[in-house]
Amino acid sequence: MRKYKILKTNVFEKNGFRIEPIRDEDKYAILQIRNEQLYHLRQTEPLTREKQEHYFATVVSNLFEVERPDQLLFSFFENNEFIGYGGLVHINWIDKNAEISFVMKTELEKEYFAKYWSVFLQLIEKVAFEQLKFHRIFTYAFDLRPHLYNVLESCNYQLEKVLKNVPFANNKSTNVKIHSKTFKRYCMQSKFKDYEMNTFNKKIAIITGANKGLGEALFNQLFNNEYFDKIVSLSRRVSKVQADLISNDDPRFEFIPVDLSMLNNSELLKNLETISLEAKEVLYINNAGTIFPIGKIGELNDNELVESLQVNVLAPSIIINYVLKTFCKAKIEIINITSGAANYSIDGWSVYGSSKAYLKFFTQSLSDQEANNNFVKAINVDPGVIDTDMQLQIRNSSIPGFTKHADFVALKEDGKLQPASMAAQKIIEKISLII
Ligand SMILES: NC(=O)c1ccc[n+]([C@@H]2O[C@H](COP(=O)([O-])OP(=O)(O)OC[C@H]3O[C@@H](n4cnc5c(N)ncnc54)[C@H](OP(=O)(O)O)[C@@H]3O)[C@@H](O)[C@H]2O)c1
Repeated sequence: MRKYKILKTNVFEKNGFRIEPIRDEDKYAILQIRNEQLYHLRQTEPLTREKQEHYFATVVSNLFEVERPDQLLFSFFENNEFIGYGGLVHINWIDKNAEISFVMKTELEKEYFAKYWSVFLQLIEKVAFEQLKFHRIFTYAFDLRPHLYNVLESCNYQLEKVLKNVPFANNKSTNVKIHSKTFKRYCMQSKFKDYEMNTFNKKIAIITGANKGLGEALFNQLFNNEYFDKIVSLSRRVSKVQADLISNDDPRFEFIPVDLSMLNNSELLKNLETISLEAKEVLYINNAGTIFPIGKIGELNDNELVESLQVNVLAPSIIINYVLKTFCKAKIEIINITSGAANYSIDGWSVYGSSKAYLKFFTQSLSDQEANNNFVKAINVDPGVIDTDMQLQIRNSSIPGFTKHADFVALKEDGKLQPASMAAQKIIEKISLII
């Protein structure tokens, strides 16, 4: 049997029904189905045996060579008898969604259309949601087989959109209906009790800027501490350790690549929605930050100014709001890494200091708002001065208006900067979920 590299399990079974990666030996049966059902498929002309052989030898065989193929096709069986084939097609690995495709032998359609469609959907949902943790799967069906829509709706799919007058063949056009199911909907549906029992029981930590400096040290210690079942990094890059965890497919690490200066309305946060369905406890550490622009007001670089407010103010506010909304079933702890610069103005650090002051106030407001709620806690932690790239950037910024530059150079020379690991340890000792 051929295996898809991305799947840990390649065969999915239920009550005598089974899907397994598409078999070469089914190619002529598939050709026959497709040619008999041309009227509803997006295929302009009948397939020949040569074309089918070429397709299997090139496109299909390649699906098993690549890490993330654009489709995952399966042969479908009832008690070992080939019934049809289908799978997830037009896969979008970034947004984690895919279209469902399925056809069965033509002679079975009249009597067993609903039965086989429903079973196939249950099996393909196991692939999409339980293995791949996709956010959404959908069907794209011409309004030519209305009984398909009834099956989809009875299987808990929602009509998402109707596209009017879509051309399909011989200059004809008809409406297309798109039905979908989201991961959330899948988990909520009562039929999948066994899967639901595995949800809402994990302890999850989310860290921004976990690839270097203080964030990396926090990540390393939380990962080794083993209190948390999963650590999620919302960062632009990964550290060496994290890259190894990704290549080993370690389930305790999840990397959501994100540039926090472009977070607004980003689809990426939707990844947290999926994670929230597993969470019993969630810790969010707002760590990422930028010191720039440094200099006098009136001489600041506009782009740096905007980026600073996006990274230090906008992104964390959006994430905190989203965490509160999305992880509403979990116990939540927010730790905001603040700075002495949030408490008093330092010449040349107007934007950094103000942005840190904003988020300190935002975190305090959340803490006050939830004062009587044992399920939500929010604290500000000032780590003190740390020997990270941010301090290097400060030392490299001998700029008019930054009058304390020499003091920061002296901090390094006098050995007064803490190692990031020491600062991280002090922060971890404050995490009440762990205590
Ligand atoms: N160092 C100190 O003395 C000190 C003192 C008090 C408070 N703090 C605070 O401690 C926190 C961590 O700072 P650090 O000293 O560890 O600094 P750092 O070594 O410069 O690390 C900053 C982190 O923020 C990330 N980041 C910056 N811009 C980003 C963006 N647009 N998108 C995604 N991630 C972004 C960086 O990722 P990239 O690698 O992708 O840039 C990096 O992971 C900050 O909130 C800082 O204000 C530091």
